[in-house]
Amino acid sequence: MTTRPRQPAPGTPGPGKLPLPEIAEMKHRGDRIVMVTAYDAPSGRLADDAGVDLILVGDSAAMVMLGHDSTVPATVDEMIILTRAVNRGARRPLVIADLPFGSYQVSDEQALETSVRFVKEGAADAVKLEGAGPMLSRVRAVTAAGIPVMGHIGLTPQTATMLGGFKAQGRTAAKASRLYEDALALQAAGCFSIVLEAVPAPVAEHITEALEIPTIGIGAGAACDGQVLVWHDLLGLYEGRAPRFVKQYAELAPTIRDAVAQYASDVRDGAFPEEKHTYAISDEELALFEAAIAEARARI
Ligand code: KIV
Repeated sequence: MTTRPRQPAPGTPGPGKLPLPEIAEMKHRGDRIVMVTAYDAPSGRLADDAGVDLILVGDSAAMVMLGHDSTVPATVDEMIILTRAVNRGARRPLVIADLPFGSYQVSDEQALETSVRFVKEGAADAVKLEGAGPMLSRVRAVTAAGIPVMGHIGLTPQTATMLGGFKAQGRTAAKASRLYEDALALQAAGCFSIVLEAVPAPVAEHITEALEIPTIGIGAGAACDGQVLVWHDLLGLYEGRAPRFVKQYAELAPTIRDAVAQYASDVRDGAFPEEKHTYAISDEELALFEAAIAEARARI
């Protein structure tokens, strides 16, 4: 088991942490930004070891970690625990906490209070929120307090019902123009980056060209400045029907199922544990111990 140096106080970048301005620099250099979701310390550490730039502690946790049917039930308390855990595992990547549904929509004050909790209690480097329009003043309020904000437009899962379900957005000229305007408005409000989810590739390309800040695509084509995938989708751990934008890089679910089945069978057959998995005691100490329990039994 590896140990990591103590982390600095929340809100202060630790040694080796990717500086936030580097994300904009990457866009200007044409370097692709790699983002992945993670929800615990081991996944944070593995993502860091693999060299990703940004880790999103997504409210997709509600589905892939907690077994809900949508992202809506995720709570601030749950998300803070996961964010803190990811931060214990990840050192270089910026860790972005997804503000869950209901934790920022009510008012600018609510958005700021929730974001402050994520920074202080979750050690988040930044927060993400969904939408534009009324959310622009939330972005202004949170960034004014010194907390970086990532935007998210296109398919916004927290409001999927209003969008007519989990489907691609911006597929008419009017809707694409609306997304374009929303992206510019989020940039003007202070976002350091914007997730574009399930948006036609040419629309995402025009938005990416128009923005100074980077776009991170998920189902938005190759012209985005970066890409994000959900950990469980990427690794084949989530066995629900995957959206078309998922590329699965491993198929771990059957591997895990086989390993656990083998463990169960070894326990039942007595094949595990073996001698090498146990601890020794000297013959002398064992004899003393056995004498002691024999004496105790004789007294009963
Ligand atoms: O919650 C999440 O994982 C997300 C990504 C899909 C962008 O918002």
